[in-house]
Amino acid sequence: MTSIRFAILGTAKIARTVAPKIQSAEGTELLGIASRSEDSAQQFAQEFGIPRTYPGYAAALDDPDVDAVYVPLPPSMHQEWTEKAAAAGKHILCEKPLARNVSETDRMIAACRKHNVVLLDGVMWYHTARAAAIRSVVDSGQLGELRQLTSVFTFRWDTMPMENLRMHRDLGGGSLLDLGWYCVGASLWLLDDMPQRVYARANWCNDVDIRLNGFLWFGDEGSVERKVATIESGFDTVRRRWLEVAGTKESLVCDDFTRPLKSSRPRFWTHDCDGESTEHVVTGKTQEECMVESFCELIRSRQTDHPWLQLSRKTQAVCDALDRSARGGHVVEL
Ligand SMILES: NC(=O)c1ccc[n+]([C@@H]2O[C@H](COP(=O)([O-])OP(=O)(O)OC[C@H]3O[C@@H](n4cnc5c(N)ncnc54)[C@H](OP(=O)(O)O)[C@@H]3O)[C@@H](O)[C@H]2O)c1
Repeated sequence: MTSIRFAILGTAKIARTVAPKIQSAEGTELLGIASRSEDSAQQFAQEFGIPRTYPGYAAALDDPDVDAVYVPLPPSMHQEWTEKAAAAGKHILCEKPLARNVSETDRMIAACRKHNVVLLDGVMWYHTARAAAIRSVVDSGQLGELRQLTSVFTFRWDTMPMENLRMHRDLGGGSLLDLGWYCVGASLWLLDDMPQRVYARANWCNDVDIRLNGFLWFGDEGSVERKVATIESGFDTVRRRWLEVAGTKESLVCDDFTRPLKSSRPRFWTHDCDGESTEHVVTGKTQEECMVESFCELIRSRQTDHPWLQLSRKTQAVCDALDRSARGGHVVEL
């Protein structure tokens, strides 16, 4: 099997976690690192033992030995560099949120389709053995008919760091796109449905939501089979990253769905109506390796229009609607 050779665009903080996993994943090679600053690229290359550095992102796209790029740039730059990478024939593992809004996402998807390259967003947990086990419990009917999914992703900054991209709307900041992206994605994925309407309220700082609470309504109003998801994202509350899927018979709880608190023991629970709980422990590769290997599998099987990309597009559409609702103060129909 020939290795898929990666370059990284930007010496981002998250790239420091992902770079070693590109190196250790099966069938991959980390060939180069690109940065606006040659010094940063060289430092990063030295630290991680990466053979090539590029002065600027375009130079990485010009390297004919690069098959795929990992794009951990601010969300405002995802569209531009995805379009350029696609035109250069490179596959793209692009960090979440895929873009700032659905029109940017659609341009990215169109460019990748046109150039027949794979695009995958950087949500890692979907690709893990634990996520597959959660999905399998939900699909098995063990929980009964699904009614409610609640998910939360928060952490707390003492003071809002104005130098951080998350505090700038033009860069694609805000807790909804940064953290709520996971909650919305989990809701759509596990309920396997799109909401008809959404409502959100937010607290604002510098025109970005630093806390957002959202409602997603699925199914016809008045129907007893209607499902609801609630989401919470925020930069102002202690670190939490849990979800609960509740059906008519049982519920499933995962207290750390976006990243296991103990990497050696990823877990979740099912609770029945008598208060009996069962702990499920599902070990496997790290979530970074799982994501990188899923991406490579999509490349090898030439799946450019794959279910994860469809889920990203839906996630972006729902995030757009939640943002419109929070800014307008009204329910938004999808
Ligand atoms: N999947 C995950 O678990 C996960 C976790 C954290 C973050 N993320 C996502 O990864 C992306 C990057 O987040 P991060 O916190 O790692 O970002 P970061 O540390 O601020 O890095 C962003 C990088 O983008 C480049 N850049 C180019 N223009 C920039 C500008 N105007 N402002 C800031 N940076 C600029 C810089 O690289 P050079 O200077 O080297 O060119 C910088 O190092 C975001 O989309 C974020 O949501 C994903």
